Amino acid sequence: MVRSIAIASGKGGVGKTSLAVNCAVKLNADGYNVGLLDADFGMANSHILLNQKIENSVNDILEKNLNIEKVIHETSAGLKLIPGGSGVLELLNLNSKKRWEIIRSLDVLKNDLDILVVDTPAGASDASIEFSAACDAVVIVLVPEPTSFMDAYSFIKALFLEKKIDTVSIVVNLAKNEKAAKKSYDSFKKIVTKFLSVDMKFLGWLPESKAIAGSIVARKPAVLQKSLEPILQKNFAEIANNLVKVDAVKSSGVKFFSNK
Ligand SMILES: Nc1ncnc2c1ncn2[C@@H]1O[C@H](COP(=O)(O)OP(=O)(O)OP(=O)(O)O)[C@@H](O)[C@H]1O
Ligand SMILES: [Mg+2]
Repeated sequence: MVRSIAIASGKGGVGKTSLAVNCAVKLNADGYNVGLLDADFGMANSHILLNQKIENSVNDILEKNLNIEKVIHETSAGLKLIPGGSGVLELLNLNSKKRWEIIRSLDVLKNDLDILVVDTPAGASDASIEFSAACDAVVIVLVPEPTSFMDAYSFIKALFLEKKIDTVSIVVNLAKNEKAAKKSYDSFKKIVTKFLSVDMKFLGWLPESKAIAGSIVARKPAVLQKSLEPILQKNFAEIANNLVKVDAVKSSGVKFFSNK
């Protein structure tokens, strides 16, 4: 069975794509068969981090009826990338039928993958909510600042009210150290659980890092960079390890790799 994991946030620019790509690469290196769906249609950029030339994107499935096999890119890092396509206005306004088509088109990967990581767009849009809810588990990237807390809260609230998702996992990015990361997590959890009966799990944290900041220019995910700081090696390993262990949550609506 494929385990699907959404990486979401609410606020933009908090490190979703960095986390999604690095975890996908790490899990692949750990021996899992990994797929990465870049569902940030219109502004997809996972392929840049992976230095992957794109032949076709999800847009071509919808527009040209192209077979999904032609959209799956075997990357040099070993994982299978399903790119979202950049600057395609059509995809920014996908209706739910098209989202369903995209989710169902991945069914052919059912026997090839152990894990599907889904990089979602920022904001509590229909697209980010539906692609997140279609996954077995949702990971929210949080940074220690009020706007990130507010937007993550709105996103979790929407997932809970619209899709009945009552468990989310948290990764704190740009934390000073483990203690500060856990403190941010604890205060966020307090806010969320005060108003919503949502269960939360701490999955791990990442410090501010030159290796991550420079990875777009280097076109190489941090986890593949030589002489990666030990703290990043350790923390990415921990997050990846925890990712495969998160329990699948129930939700209403369409799911990846199911018949719904
Ligand atoms: N821990 C970190 N240390 C340093 N830079 C980081 C870190 N995490 C992310 N960044 C940088 O912050 C920027 C935004 O990161 P990223 O693209 O991963 O965020 P995102 O949440 O996917 O953004 P968007 O909402 O636009 O999709 C990138 O330039 C990235 O390199
Ligand atoms: Mg992104």
